[in-house]
Amino acid sequence: MKAQQTKDIQPFVLWLAWLLALTLTIDYLLHYTQTLWVEQYMGIFGTCLIVLSFSYSLRKKKIITFGKIKTFLRAHEYLAWTGALMVLAHGGIHFNAILPWAAAAAMLVAVISGLVGKYLLKQSTDTLSKRKDELAKSGLSSEEIEKKIFWEALAVNAMKKWKSVHKPITIIFAASAALHILIIFLFWRWN
Ligand code: HEM
Repeated sequence: MKAQQTKDIQPFVLWLAWLLALTLTIDYLLHYTQTLWVEQYMGIFGTCLIVLSFSYSLRKKKIITFGKIKTFLRAHEYLAWTGALMVLAHGGIHFNAILPWAAAAAMLVAVISGLVGKYLLKQSTDTLSKRKDELAKSGLSSEEIEKKIFWEALAVNAMKKWKSVHKPITIIFAASAALHILIIFLFWRWN
């Protein structure tokens, strides 16, 4: 069962680790090649990808009427993940102001909750119900089963709340990102 649990969290951990590793690599390469000006454009490109990823909402609300919802959802996942990578690389590993970091933190929470919904929840729910079946077959009473799976059940229940994090955090992310972009356009001198 431990091996199964490790297998369950693998895709989630890999997509998250991949995001952080690529951010660090891009940041390192931009510093190494002294092309840090590229970061500004990565921010714009990443934002465009994330905005484009919201076409899933438009499809769900039938404002867009063509194409399968599933295709739009897949596009949402990949576009938002890639956009987040561009935005994180744009932020780089330096701290200048609170607002852009608040936006980046909200974006990361959106990505992590999205990855939970896509990769962790279903596998963990399946594994938990298999474990319940096994324990029941071994002759344990339902109270004993509840005790044995207490922590796993708690974790799965917490994961089920991913949507109530994923959607509201988008509003906080969008508001802080919009404010950050507005301030940049008001004060920034482009190279
Ligand atoms: C910048 C990062 C992200 C933002 C701001 C974001 C935002 C959103 C929003 C607003 C919705 C609701 C759409 C609607 O119902 O109208 C949504 C749905 C969803 N997102 Fe994301 N998302 C992000 C990244 C991700 C990632 C990386 C994944 C997974 C790989 C993901 C997976 C999902 C899934 C599975 C849904 C469908 C929920 C449903 O309709 O039942 N999201 N996202």
